[in-house]
Order: sequence, then structure tokens, then C-alpha cells
Amino acid sequence: MALLDTTDIIILTVIAILTAVYIRYFKDSGSKTVTVGGAGSVAASSGPAGSVKPGSAESPRAYGKKSILKKLQALDHPSQLILFYGSQTGTAEDLATRIAKDTTTHFNIPTLICDPEEYDMTELTRWPGEAEGKKWLCGFFMATYGEGEPTDNVVEFYDWIMAGKGKGEDDGGQDDGGDDPLEDDALDGFKYIVFGLGNKTYEHYNAIGRRLDKRLKSLGGVRIGERGEGDDDASMEEDFLAWKPSILAAMAEYFNVEDAGSIGQRDKPHVPLFEIAPATNISQAQVFWGEYSAGKPRRWQKAQDGEEDYEMVDSGVGEKFVEVRSRKIAYDAKHPHYGRILTSKPLFIDVHDEYTFDNTYHMPRAGHKRYLVENTKVRIERHCLHVDLDISGSGLKYETGDHVGVWPVNDEEHLMRLAKALGLTEEELDKVVILKPNKQNMAAESAKVPFPVPCTVRTALLHYLDLAAIVKQYQLEILAKYCKDTAERDLLFELADNRELYVPLIERSRKDLADVLDVFQSIEVPIAVVLGELLPRIAVRYYSISSSSKEEPNHVGVTAVMVRYALPSQFPSHRVKDGKEGNVVVKQGIATSWLQRLHEARSGLEAEAGVLNNHSETEPIPIPKFYLPLYIRTSNFKLPRNPRLPVVMVGPGTGVAPFRAFVRERYHLASTSPEMKVGPTWLFYGCRHPDKDFLYRAEFEAMEKGVASGQVDLDLKVFKAYSRYEGKKVYVQHMVRDNGKDVWKMMGEMGGYFYVCGDAKHMAHDVQNALTELALKFGGMASEDKAKAWVKDLRTKGRYLEDVWS
Ligand SMILES: Cc1cc2nc3c(=O)[nH]c(=O)nc-3n(C[C@H](O)[C@H](O)[C@H](O)COP(=O)(O)OP(=O)(O)OC[C@H]3O[C@@H](n4cnc5c(N)ncnc54)[C@H](O)[C@@H]3O)c2cc1C
Ligand SMILES: Cc1cc2nc3c(=O)[nH]c(=O)nc-3n(C[C@H](O)[C@H](O)[C@H](O)COP(=O)(O)O)c2cc1C
Repeated sequence: MALLDTTDIIILTVIAILTAVYIRYFKDSGSKTVTVGGAGSVAASSGPAGSVKPGSAESPRAYGKKSILKKLQALDHPSQLILFYGSQTGTAEDLATRIAKDTTTHFNIPTLICDPEEYDMTELTRWPGEAEGKKWLCGFFMATYGEGEPTDNVVEFYDWIMAGKGKGEDDGGQDDGGDDPLEDDALDGFKYIVFGLGNKTYEHYNAIGRRLDKRLKSLGGVRIGERGEGDDDASMEEDFLAWKPSILAAMAEYFNVEDAGSIGQRDKPHVPLFEIAPATNISQAQVFWGEYSAGKPRRWQKAQDGEEDYEMVDSGVGEKFVEVRSRKIAYDAKHPHYGRILTSKPLFIDVHDEYTFDNTYHMPRAGHKRYLVENTKVRIERHCLHVDLDISGSGLKYETGDHVGVWPVNDEEHLMRLAKALGLTEEELDKVVILKPNKQNMAAESAKVPFPVPCTVRTALLHYLDLAAIVKQYQLEILAKYCKDTAERDLLFELADNRELYVPLIERSRKDLADVLDVFQSIEVPIAVVLGELLPRIAVRYYSISSSSKEEPNHVGVTAVMVRYALPSQFPSHRVKDGKEGNVVVKQGIATSWLQRLHEARSGLEAEAGVLNNHSETEPIPIPKFYLPLYIRTSNFKLPRNPRLPVVMVGPGTGVAPFRAFVRERYHLASTSPEMKVGPTWLFYGCRHPDKDFLYRAEFEAMEKGVASGQVDLDLKVFKAYSRYEGKKVYVQHMVRDNGKDVWKMMGEMGGYFYVCGDAKHMAHDVQNALTELALKFGGMASEDKAKAWVKDLRTKGRYLEDVWS
């Protein structure tokens, strides 16, 4: 008998071809320490950063995971610390980096910071004991997401270490009854620390940090010090700072070293973590212009006459671009796809938010395009945009209810304000640089270049670094060391030490680096320190997709409300002006103001501040205007598989985004396949005023009309709660209560699904309380506890789903 039959041979041939294609096309997407243009080394990091361009050096490593043990051996030091982070938007990675910096400077102990996704985590079971006087310690900085889930970069490690027990109760972990591949003593003698990142407004607070801690212990691991927990709802920073001294003390005891602290080192000059290497022998094509990954996703060049492909509209001047077809690449969070903005339109505009200040503040200049100042009042325009992004041809797929992540670009006006404060000339901004770890700094070993290089200083400041980030206390300490004026330096050190001073002067008024440099004018800080230590990377922004994948599989809809607000900002003592204590500042969100600028430029309107124009006459360009780096993040927020089941949706404000998609999808199904008998589809929507900020009003009304006229057979209802209309304040939870009997029927009797989207802080709780009350009132529950247990059970069964953010 032949060993292989024809089908086997066909399958094996297909596998062989696919493997070859995979290696041929995707092998650049790994990451590795490489030499760029002969000018220095760049340690690749997690997320879309730290990349090197293809062709600029040896290709990054393919798919094999890196060895933790080899890394540790290479450090060749009797004490070693390795920190892993589970991070979606960078906070966990940032905190791990800060602990690493402290252990190197305070204890003189080399520390590695690693993305678990890149390492062979099964090596933890072969962790070296404390033989020959060596001390090894492992740290986990783990954020929790969704319904108590790990971040994307931790999923694989988490599934392996938890061995099927990872999705249970937060204090335990349910045993699924399956075989546990890890022995009870698999981590015998393994020493570790844990800091969990979470948010108390979520049901499964800090679930991942807690479950991991418990599991490591049950496998024989020994935790050093207390487990830290940070609550993003209150203050992650406060929680981290409160935990830090105790964990440093515990580590000092474990490693048997003296904690030199940082205050004792104030007289010593700052040793920068990175230095700038000259970018010599580098071609234009090797330079990054805002791309997030080396695996060149797409390139465009100006179309020749008669050549038609992607249309670009350049602030009123028509320009055609053709895409330079490149090799295929799998897009993900580390290799975003550049999706074109297909449409952008205002959903509402000009609804004002009013802020009133007392007269001890300088008011901002009047007559600004986005706000009005009247005496002590600042009135800010509110805007909301609908944007459709093109994912056709990318291989990306989404399902209704998923999220899209986008990386925004800073405002050029903000960049110029910072450049001025730093004394950077246009020429210096346009210089191509390579940032590389500075060997003089003990922490250089684990320092990761935070953005792809080589790039210009301008690109780094516009595309990769968050110019609006509030300056942290440890960064004020760095700045103090570059301060020429003694009084300013003393004040900066005081702010770095004294939280009671720092919070009102810096944190509450959201002072970013440009703001601080403006106040402390004697600071002269090198650009390598600015790029490598004073500005965090720009974090991805998520949006709940507001289009239906059934209706528009190639388009991703985003519904974004502009973030813009006014704040009082006190001056530090040395800058009090005219006897007034401070000024009023108007701040704006990075992503939403950028979307608005893109919209205005697309529409031929005068954009508020420049939209980067990187269109080259001669060379292919990396990212044309109106293309956003994006990726799709799958979520559990999904319609029931059985369309006959009722759905109850509660989504005020932009919380309506996924429900626009849900309602459209169910309406579409009911109109095209009436035999499916789509179940009740009830939406509770809230806004301020029906004529001012009602999102997608025309669309909902058209569907309501279609139903009322009998054209479509669907029990569709859109309940409207207006909070500033006819002198009443009505909120979504009131409407849910008012329709309690029917809501109960759908949820308690008909097996319905309940969805909540939008504000995590207040609304989500109020709505949950309203549903609990309905269970008591209409469901005959004997007590409030029973009603609460019923809602909890709905969650466990996946029939109460939240998509909330704060
Ligand atoms: C899963 C998920 C889905 C989301 N879906 C949507 C969506 O569909 N639509 C949508 O519009 N947004 C959505 N968001 C929020 C979105 O990701 C961004 O956070 C939001 O658009 C603001 O981004 P930005 O870059 O403009 O603001 P940023 O530059 O990030 O600034 C926002 C920060 O400014 C500060 N801030 C804001 N207002 C004030 C104030 N009045 N006083 C003091 N400080 C203030 C807050 O610290 C806030 O975190 C979602 C978030 C998540 C996590
Ligand atoms: C969409 C979303 C879901 C979240 N879900 C949870 C959760 O279930 N439990 C929790 O404790 N925190 C939750 N959080 C809070 C995050 O864990 C917290 O903001 C953390 O600081 C993020 O860290 P990162 O920036 O490293 O990704 C959630 C945050 C977001 C944006």
C-alpha cells in the first residue's frame, strides 16, 4: 500500500508552497537587534516601534522565538532581572521600563524588558536556580482587557501558563477538568514580582495580574514583595508610585544590595539613555517617514497622465496617485495597514460646552476658530465626525462589533511650539537621525529605541511621540539636571518629590513638555534625551466600528467626537504674572483633532493646523495624506448567532457607534431575508438635544419609517433620552426603567441579549443597576442579591455585553 495517497500529496504540496510563500513574503516582519546603515544598533521593541527598514541591514529574524536564558547568560552578571509586559497601549511597558531604570541606577543590576510574544516563555520551567550565588528575578507587568482578558501580546503565554484555567473567577481560575501539562512544581524556586494594571470600572478588575500571580504560586513560584495593582480609573501613576518603594526595598533585600535611591544622585549629571548617531550613507528609501513597520506595507507615487488608481485630493488641488504594488504582508498591530479615508462627514457641529473660571486666571485669546471667550467663560465647539476607512485589498477582515485601532499624528502647531521651546531650527528638525542606546548608561542593555529609525527629528516628533503627554515626576527630575537657573532647578526637584505640589501644577493642568519648557526657560536639554526619555510613544486609539461587516465588508466606519476642553493652569511661583495666579488653557485630543484636520483638508476647508504634506515629486512616498495606519482588533461584542433573539442596546453619545452597525445589520437582514424573522431590536440612545447632537438621526428615522410603513417586518424601536431638552434631564437608564416590563420580557423570558456601549465611569453602572431593578420588580426575584446574581449570570453566559471606555 502506498504511504501517501493523491489527496495527501496534494495537501503536502499545498503546504510546501504556502510555507515557501510565507517565508518569502513575511520573513521581514519579525524583529531583532540589527545594525542600521553601519551606524549603530536598534533593539526592536514591541508594538509598532523599533523597526528597521528592509534592505537597510540584515533581515530581522523569522519566526523562531528568542531565548530568555541565552539573553540572561549574555548579561553575565550575578544578579539579573527580566521584566515582561502585557500591554495594549503602552502603560505596562512604560512602568516596566521605569522599574528597570531604577534597578539599574539604584542597584547596579542589569535588567531586560521583554515582550512575551517574542520569547520562548516555556523556558520559565527551565529557570536556573540560585546556583553559584546567582540571583535571578522575573517581573510581570500585566494589563487586563475586555471581559478579564490578557492583552494581545500575552495571549499565547497566558494560555500556556494557565493551561486552560485562565478564564475563571478573578481570585481563582476555573479548572476546566482537562489535563494540566505543567507539573505542580514546574516553577519550583522561580522568583517573581507582579504589577497588575486595570480599571475598577470594569467587572474583572485586574483579573490577569491576580490570576497569573496565583498560578505562578501554585506552580512553586515565590513572589518577592507585594503584588502591585494600578487602577486607571483613579490614578495608575499614584498606585505605581505607592508600590514602587516597597518593591524596590523587597528587591534590594532579595538581591542583597543597598538601595542607592535617586535623591542621593541628584548632584550627578544625567547620563542619557540614548545618543544620536549620525545617519551617514543612508538613502531616502531607508528613512522612515511615519511608517510603523519595516515590512513595507504600501507605497504610492504620482500617477502619470492617463494612469488612474487611488485618488488623492490635496486641499483643493486634485492629485492622482497610483499604488506601487508591493509584496503582500499580513497586517496586525505591529504592521498596520494604511487605509484611505473614503468619506468623512460631520455628524454634528457647533454644540457648545461652556467652562467658567474665576478672575484670577488669564483667559485665552479670544476669537479662536474653535472657541469663544466671554469674560470669564470659555465656550468650546463640539464636533463629531463619521469617517469611513478603506480596507479593501488588505486581507483585513472585521466583524460587526469589532474595534479599529489607529495611530494618530500630532498637530504641527504643537510640534512648532515644542521646537521653539527646545530651540530647534527647521534644519535640525529635518535632520535624519539614528537613536541608539548610550553605552555609558547602565540601562542601555535593555533600552529599546522607541520608534523606527533612521528618521528625521520632525518625523519622530510628529508621528511617533506623544507631544501632549503630561510630564511625569521622574521626567521633571531629568529636566532639573539640565536646568541652568538654580531657583528653577530647585523647584523642578521639589515638583519631582512632592506630589501635592506636582498634581495641581503639572498633572491637573495637563502640562506637556512644551508647557514645562515654557515655564522653566533655563532648561537646555539635548534632543536625544527628549526623543528617548521625555516623550512616550504615541499610543494606538481604538474606535468601536460603526459599520456593519455584512453591509460593508471593505469599509470600516468610525464615529468620533472631538476631544477639546479648557483647563485652569496655575503658574509655578517663579512665574506669577500681574498678580494673577495662572491662565486658562484650551487642550485638544491628538487623534480626534487630527481626524478633524484630515477631514477639513479633504473637504478643501482650511485645516486648523497643517496636515503633513509628504508628497514627493520624484520618489514613491510611504504614506500619502488621508491614509491612516490602522488594524482591526476583534472583540466579543457580537450580535447573537440566532437573529431571532431579541437585542436590547444602550448607547448614548458615541456609544451608539457599534449599535448603528447592529441596527443596520438587523434591518438589512429583515428586509432581505424576512423568513429569518429577526427578533426585537431595541436601541436606547441618549444625547443632549434632538436638533443638536443626535447621531445618525436621519438613518434611524428612515429605518423607523421603513418599519412603520410595513416595508420591513421588524420590531425596531429607538428610544431617545435627551439630557438638555425642554428643561428636563433624561438619561438612557431612565428610558430603560420606563420600558422595564418589555425589557424584562425580552431579557428574562425570551433569551435576549443586552448590550451597553460608551462611558464606563457612570453610565455603564447606572444601566446595570437599572436592569437589576427590573429583575427585582418584574422578575419576581426575592432579593436584590438574587437580582444581582441574575445579571452576573447573564454576563457569564455572554448575554450581557459591554463595550465601554473612560
Ligand atoms: C474600546 C474603545 C472603543 C472606543 N470607541 C470610541 C468611539 O467609537 N468613538 C469615540 O469618539 N471614542 C472612542 N473611544 C475613545 C478613543 O479611543 C479616544 O480615547 C478618544 O477619541 C480621544 O482620543 P484623542 O487622541 O483625541 O484624545 P487624547 O489625546 O488621548 O486625550 C484624551 C485625554 O484627555 C483628557 N481629557 C479629556 N477631556 C478632559 C477634560 N474635560 N478635562 C481634563 N482632561 C480631559 C483625558 O485624560 C483623556 O484621556 C474608544 C476607546 C476604547 C478603549
Ligand atoms: C477596552 C478596555 C477594556 C479594559 N478592560 C479591563 C478589565 O476588564 N479589567 C480591568 O481591570 N481593566 C480593564 N481595562 C483597563 C486597562 O487594563 C488599563 O487601562 C491599563 O492601564 C492598560 O494598560 P496598557 O496601556 O499597558 O495596555 C480596560 C481598558 C480598556 C481600554
